[in-house]
Amino acid sequence: RIAVWCDVDPGHDDALAIVLAGHSKRLELLGVSTVAGNQTIEKVTQNALDILDASGMAHIDVVAGQAKPLIRHAPILCPEIHGESGLDGPDGTQLLPRSGRRPLGQKAVPHMFSCISGAYARRQQKVQLVCTGALTNAALLLILYPEVVDMLEIVLMGGCMGIGNTGPVVEFNIQTDPEAAKVVFECGARVTMIPLEVTHTAIATPVVLSRLCKGHLQDPTPYQAAMMRLLVFFAETYKAVFSFDDPPLHDPCAVAYVICPDMFKTELMRVDVETHSALSAGQTVCDVWHQTGRLKNVHVAKAIDTVRFWDMMIMALHAADAA
Ligand code: BDR
Ligand code: CA
Repeated sequence: RIAVWCDVDPGHDDALAIVLAGHSKRLELLGVSTVAGNQTIEKVTQNALDILDASGMAHIDVVAGQAKPLIRHAPILCPEIHGESGLDGPDGTQLLPRSGRRPLGQKAVPHMFSCISGAYARRQQKVQLVCTGALTNAALLLILYPEVVDMLEIVLMGGCMGIGNTGPVVEFNIQTDPEAAKVVFECGARVTMIPLEVTHTAIATPVVLSRLCKGHLQDPTPYQAAMMRLLVFFAETYKAVFSFDDPPLHDPCAVAYVICPDMFKTELMRVDVETHSALSAGQTVCDVWHQTGRLKNVHVAKAIDTVRFWDMMIMALHAADAA
């Protein structure tokens, strides 16, 4: 099994990324770290504990990471998409029972290093670091423990080749901490970026809801009901903010890449992160035609096999329900 670490800011789609990482037979989930983004660090950390406990993964530890970007003063939060709690249900309701667990007492980045280096030494196989929020923890890990670059590969949901979501040409996770993204993109490890162009094709249609409930939409299990409410809330905010008919599940796509890279089409290219512009800080400038002549540094996903993706996601949700 492939060792994976999830660095997240749950967030509705992050929650489902955690479910996929924890319930794929191909992966061993080493742990979960959180980063401020969709909501404050306190809220996203509580949400990570809640989704793990609700999904039969109370044995997975959570460690709270950075509350602020590397250099910028405050995180950009995203209540318009994820609600005040970061994981709201419809009508502002609480989606999941509150976990009684606490995050680990230690600092996230040294803890991530110790788990990743330990797993690498044990298995002599690189650990997959999946990042589905701002890249602050990942950048600090690379800065403080430069030797880690040989022990991991990074798969991140973030960036866009063209049109953005929280800015005309910027995607939220990279916009939240552009300087951290720059560190990650230039670190020298294998970096795979799953941009909006791809995640916007992984749409949770009503068929997904029906499959989640095994066709029994009127009679779901409590877990299925909670996951339905998660998707309904996400659909409502995506409709209100972006006029999407159904919501895209961004973050699980990054986990799916680790499980099955051949489900994706990717292209290695130069990607630079704009850090200066007031207009487009956080833009991922993708050099498709290699016009800069600079070293190609990022494997950019260009397409995902959505049929296989949904099979995988539904299977994980059923496994979580049974756990
Ligand atoms: C990303 O932003 C967040 O709101 C989602 O969780 C996802 O990681 C999409 O731009
Ligand atoms: Ca996220």
